[in-house]
Amino acid sequence: MAKQRTLSIIKPDATSRNLCGKILNHFEEAGLSIVAARMMTLTPEQAGQFYIIHKDRPFYGELIDYMCSGRVLVSVLEGEDAVNCNRTLMGATDPKKADKGTIRALYAESIAANAVHGSDSAENAAVEIALFFPELK
Ligand code: CMP
Repeated sequence: MAKQRTLSIIKPDATSRNLCGKILNHFEEAGLSIVAARMMTLTPEQAGQFYIIHKDRPFYGELIDYMCSGRVLVSVLEGEDAVNCNRTLMGATDPKKADKGTIRALYAESIAANAVHGSDSAENAAVEIALFFPELK
C-alpha cells in the first residue's frame, strides 16, 4: 500500500498529564512519521467544525467543552496504511474496550477523555488535515 496521511489529536487529558512524548513514541515506533505538528487550544468554533458529524449526538456539547478545556497537540502522521495503523495503535474509543497495550488502554481516562483522536477514513483524514494544515500539499 502507498504512503498515506492521517490526522492525530492528543487531547487535553493527555497533554495535561505530559503524555505527548509517550504517545508520539507509539506512532514513531510503528513506523509513522510526524510530518506536521501544532500545539494549540481549540476555540469552540474550531472544535465545533471539527466534530460537526457528531452535532446531533447527545454528547456533542460535552465533547466540544472538553476539547476546548486545555491544550491539544494536532499532528499529521504519514506512513503505510496510516489511517488504519493509527486506529490500531489508539484502540477502541471506549478505553474499557481497548486492547491491552493500545494508547487508550494505557492512557485514556474515560470515553470522553480518551487521550487521542485519529481520522477514521482516508477521506475524513484529507478533510481534517486541510482544516488544521491548509498549507500542506
Ligand atoms: P474521537 O475519536 O475523538 O471521536 C469523537 C469523540 O466523541 C470520541 O473520540 C469520544 O471522545 C467522544 N465520545 C464518543 N462517544 C461518547 C460518549 N458516549 N460520551 C461522551 N463522549 C463520547
